[in-house]
Amino acid sequence: MNLKLLVWRQVNGSDAGRLVPYDAEDISPDMSFLEMLDVVNENLIRRGEDPIAFDSDCREGICGMCSLVINGVPHGHEHATTVCQLHMRHFEDGDTITVEPWRAKAFPPHKDLMVDRSAFDRIIAAGGYVSVNVGGAPEANSIPIPRDAAEAAMDSAACIGCGACVAACKNASAVLFVGAKISHLALLPQGHPERRRRVAAMVAQMDAEGFGSCSNEGECEAVCPKEISMANIACLRREFVRALWRR
Ligand code: SF4
Ligand code: FES
Repeated sequence: MNLKLLVWRQVNGSDAGRLVPYDAEDISPDMSFLEMLDVVNENLIRRGEDPIAFDSDCREGICGMCSLVINGVPHGHEHATTVCQLHMRHFEDGDTITVEPWRAKAFPPHKDLMVDRSAFDRIIAAGGYVSVNVGGAPEANSIPIPRDAAEAAMDSAACIGCGACVAACKNASAVLFVGAKISHLALLPQGHPERRRRVAAMVAQMDAEGFGSCSNEGECEAVCPKEISMANIACLRREFVRALWRR
């Protein structure tokens, strides 16, 4: 396959940035989108040019590092697919593809297609955990958990923290991400002792980071590679109201 790329190049956060055309030639349809960019970068390096900077790590759809807006859609147009799992066979020979970074005030640009997503880390640090005393591991069956609750918690825990939900939202809201983290712990008995403090702290941190408010657009759910449901946002709201009433 031969493709035309329009790739966002930006030296750093103070640079205005621009779309730059590149040719991607002799691309195998079985390559992932990131492997296609690797080929483009190898050619740039061979010519002595600066390679395109982009994030990736696991390349297996589990770490959440890959983060490209492809033809205007975070992670591209394939449903429930991360960029690293998006294969070139889903494009046509001769296509022109635009590649841009996540864009949100709370995700400031680093370089080219890389943005700083440490705001998510700070939200998790504010309360996205369960405090435990050190010591021997407790008996696994000492706290019975209903099967439905366990499965719903696992569905919420599937969030990989990629930030596509923020990139897709016109308000740059992070409520799907935060909702998934809150729901995952609120559904399990181990998460109950700290639930009020947790939701208040995580929502306060989300606001402090500059993420926008939710207006129920649903773009977040539509682009989420892990199919995190908007029901997690409803759970976040219930937990937050409950925390306010019981102060
Ligand atoms: S909710 Fe989905 S889109 Fe948002 S951070 Fe988690 S996995 Fe990514
Ligand atoms: S590189 Fe890990 S999810 Fe894509």
